[in-house]
Amino acid sequence: MEENFKLTNAVELKESLATKWQAPSNIALVKYWGKHGLQLPANPSISFTLDACRTITSVKASQGKHSFSISYDGEAIPEFVPKIEAYFKRIASYCPWIANYHFEIDTHNTFPHSSGIASSASSMAALSACVIDFESELTGVPLDYHKMSFLARLGSGSACRSLQGAAVLWGEHKDTEGSSNHYGIDKSELLHPIFKDFQDTILLVDKGEKVVSSTIGHDLMNGHAFAKARFEQAHENLTTLKKALEKGDLETFIKITESEALTLHAMMMTSHPYFILMKPQTLSIIEEIWAFRKETQIPVCFTLDAGANVHLLYPSEHKIAVGELINNKLDQYCQNSHYICDQIGTGAKKC
Ligand code: PMV
Repeated sequence: MEENFKLTNAVELKESLATKWQAPSNIALVKYWGKHGLQLPANPSISFTLDACRTITSVKASQGKHSFSISYDGEAIPEFVPKIEAYFKRIASYCPWIANYHFEIDTHNTFPHSSGIASSASSMAALSACVIDFESELTGVPLDYHKMSFLARLGSGSACRSLQGAAVLWGEHKDTEGSSNHYGIDKSELLHPIFKDFQDTILLVDKGEKVVSSTIGHDLMNGHAFAKARFEQAHENLTTLKKALEKGDLETFIKITESEALTLHAMMMTSHPYFILMKPQTLSIIEEIWAFRKETQIPVCFTLDAGANVHLLYPSEHKIAVGELINNKLDQYCQNSHYICDQIGTGAKKC
């Protein structure tokens, strides 16, 4: 499979190249947790693509020995160097022309740097879009979104779900034709109109660095006592969730989405060593959401990433009522009352 992404087209090198792309973050509904090989997922996942939380990356390439510089708003960020270095090494055999260029990479996130929102998905997706854009310019071959997603995956697993489409499925799934462990596929066509402008308000409970990185968390699924059952469950949940997305069945959507979030954290709590990324405020918010849903019958639910922040998901028609819930009850649990209003988006775009 990987072989399909090796470049076979002739490359005509140019003196210099420049491009700029933006790519969004994404929020998984069925979670990817556990991997093997080079960022191959232990189970399939599906996510909503976000819109407001984005990374904007510009890259200038000049012909010469391979090297790169990386900056954030023009200021060097040495802490990003190892990740980008590893990325270029991993993609080298698929994009051999990169050996002939020095890359000047500048990046910017639309969300605050210290918001506890991982920028790895949006940043690796944006950088991969720039690389494929260059490749298309050098070969004359149209943009290959599957290869973009494939490269992004080599940078950071979930980044492969941030390139194309409002809902993206990644990982081999028996009920999904064309699904692959190597890249994400656009499943926007599944979405019932109710999901097309779904809202995601990200309640910033903890803006700090995660105490346990997702790399370590994924590794702890190797030999995890519940791993086999969890991976099977993800397959089943994906089948059920796909049907709910198609039918606009919010009750099933809520059941699967919340259960997946809690299962992800349950896996962390039952790993060895075990760890907890939720904070007391995370649980308070969950209780408030459940009480609000029971009282109002408004279909608002939550999901969690590998952190304490809570993603509040709801149809846009309930924006006002949920806004009141946030301002009256939920923002007190957020750090400095901060939250980010986002919604479902469509993927990476050239700027
Ligand atoms: O892409 P990574 O290695 O940062 O892992 C992301 C894992 C979760 O965000 C917890 C779940 C997911 O599917 O995005």
